[in-house]
Amino acid sequence: MHVSRLTSKVIGDKTTTADQAPAIRVRGLTKSFKDLEVLRGVDLDVARGSIVALLGSNGAGKTTVVRILATLLRADGGSASVNGFDVGAQAADVRASLSLTGQFAAVDEILTGRENLVLVARLRHLGDPGAVADAMLERFSLTDAGGRRVSEYSGGMRRRLDLAMSLVGEPPVIVLDEPTTGLDPQARLEVWQAVRELAAAGTSVLLTTQYLDEAEQLADRIAVLHGGRILVDGTLAELKALLPPATVEYVEKQPTLEDVFLALVGDTSAGLGAGADE
Ligand SMILES: Nc1ncnc2c1ncn2[C@@H]1O[C@H](COP(=O)(O)OP(=O)(O)OP(=O)(O)O)[C@@H](O)[C@H]1O
Ligand SMILES: [Mg+2]
Repeated sequence: MHVSRLTSKVIGDKTTTADQAPAIRVRGLTKSFKDLEVLRGVDLDVARGSIVALLGSNGAGKTTVVRILATLLRADGGSASVNGFDVGAQAADVRASLSLTGQFAAVDEILTGRENLVLVARLRHLGDPGAVADAMLERFSLTDAGGRRVSEYSGGMRRRLDLAMSLVGEPPVIVLDEPTTGLDPQARLEVWQAVRELAAAGTSVLLTTQYLDEAEQLADRIAVLHGGRILVDGTLAELKALLPPATVEYVEKQPTLEDVFLALVGDTSAGLGAGADE
């Protein structure tokens, strides 16, 4: 049970990179579930050392993209590579290059935080798993909680532990599926800080989120997934430039990312699950 729940995290110890291929490259990716066309030709790039946010409503297909990248799901068509390795043909190399923190925390409740980290370090064949675990606990402000069972942790502590477990072995590409959903503002800030530090240290990050402010805060580039395709992809400034600044009497108001998102995706419920309904 432990091992199967951890398979998406435990991905060998390969940190070598295939030349200077982008961290993630996706072209024309398609995926259907029976009659439901979820992905209809997705193009996406994550440059090395950058943070890209994949934004989309519930059911847009974000987790589907993530699962294909993590080799947990096969695409129907198109191509996707991680660290220069094809997700279909070179799945083992992809798994060695990428660490996924799923939408739902994959920590083991019965173990302590430290034991979870030691387990991952062992599975990755790292020397001195105890020292690796202690360093991660320190980095994520979990040193005091390290000896407690995870079943006693708060949601934010679990998330931080989950993130710490993903980083054991320092994979060059990290994929975070809704890393801060359900966290309080303080815990969100801590996760954001951890993600920023990762990118600053050269790790490439793809994160999915429904929180527009999260994308604004963290991402070098933002891609909006809707109706099975990437509607737009650009820097925050580029996305904002898509809408003219609204002027109200004497005050010039710049569009927020939320304005851009809603203009693209359609306001309120029209956008919800549209990827699934169309
Ligand atoms: N294994 C599956 N079998 C059938 N349908 C699926 C499967 N996985 C996902 N879907 C459907 O594909 C669509 C996209 O799901 P996905 O989980 O990728 O969305 P998401 O963007 O991650 O949404 P959320 O924001 O709610 O996490 C949904 O309509 C979902 O019901
Ligand atoms: Mg999802």
